[in-house]
Amino acid sequence: MGLKDKLTELKKNALEEINNAKDLKKINDIRVNVLGKKGPITEVLRGMRDLPKEERPNVGSFANKVRDELSSAISERKERIEIIKTSKRLEEEKIDVTLPGVPVKTGQPHIIMQVIDQIEKLFLGMGYQVVDGPEIEEDHYNFEMMNLPKDHPARDMQDTFYITDKFLMRTQTSPVQARTMEKHDFSKGPLKMISPGKVYRRDTDDATHSHQFHQIEGLVIDKNITMADLKGTLQLIARTVFGKEREIRLRPSYFPFTEPSVEVDVSCFKCSGEGCSVCKHTGWIEVLGAGMVHPNVLKMSGIDADVYGGFAFGLGPDRFAMLKYGVDDIREFYLNDMRFLKQFSQRG
Ligand code: PHE
Repeated sequence: MGLKDKLTELKKNALEEINNAKDLKKINDIRVNVLGKKGPITEVLRGMRDLPKEERPNVGSFANKVRDELSSAISERKERIEIIKTSKRLEEEKIDVTLPGVPVKTGQPHIIMQVIDQIEKLFLGMGYQVVDGPEIEEDHYNFEMMNLPKDHPARDMQDTFYITDKFLMRTQTSPVQARTMEKHDFSKGPLKMISPGKVYRRDTDDATHSHQFHQIEGLVIDKNITMADLKGTLQLIARTVFGKEREIRLRPSYFPFTEPSVEVDVSCFKCSGEGCSVCKHTGWIEVLGAGMVHPNVLKMSGIDADVYGGFAFGLGPDRFAMLKYGVDDIREFYLNDMRFLKQFSQRG
């Protein structure tokens, strides 16, 4: 067999092998075997020494042509294998964008926060400021500035977590009002504020007591403030939270920081006054405490009690939420059981 025939045969076999190659390793092996220094083409070229001189260029250029052809066949096959590999990968990585997504769970404010928000909105709309204060408070602001000197028996009404003689966990949000009164500049206008937040008392937890609960206290100080202003404001709270039809009733009471002081009842939203288990068959439900600011409280904050006066009230968002939604155990609010909390979704 002449060299040319050998080369033709070799080309045929190599092309077949190349086209059957399935991966890059195989194609590389073929390249090394067929075109490498120890491969058959090199061998043929080496054999040219034995040919007569005049045949050498012809056979030489034929061998080169075969080598070029095989070399480009190898490159093409290599490219092809790479394309197949990539499309396989793309196939594997394919995602179906038309599949419905996994719904993202959205949260909601805690039910107590919903009650606080509702009352904050009401008062912001009437030009009140919402003021925050420290939960670790000084005895001075929590009690003394509220007309409760040390050893005053009314301190017993608020069982207290003392931290030191001077510091305590605030038992009411009134100290925020003392801090604000002290700073208020009456030449710029009246003081109208509410102070919402957590308060703490050394009570044993049961269905109606919690060592931590919430308060919103309100305070207005200006000239010529009367109990009629207080009553109108209380009625607005009752109607906003418990329904447009509600009436309120004031009963005399005692708080050290107000004089006169009142206990406020709202007409029963369940039976509208007929008598039911919610209002214990009285038609009325006690909802908050209030009164006209005691002159001592004003004086202690440096306010002239002969010129200025005001009203104050204090309500419990926990109690409001319990009444409004029929929750019979205050501890439910603090257990963070989603099955309980989810019932109060604002989206209904
Ligand atoms: N801070 C009072 C309390 O916790 C509530 C209150 C505030 C009562 C203002 C009357 C006036 O008892």
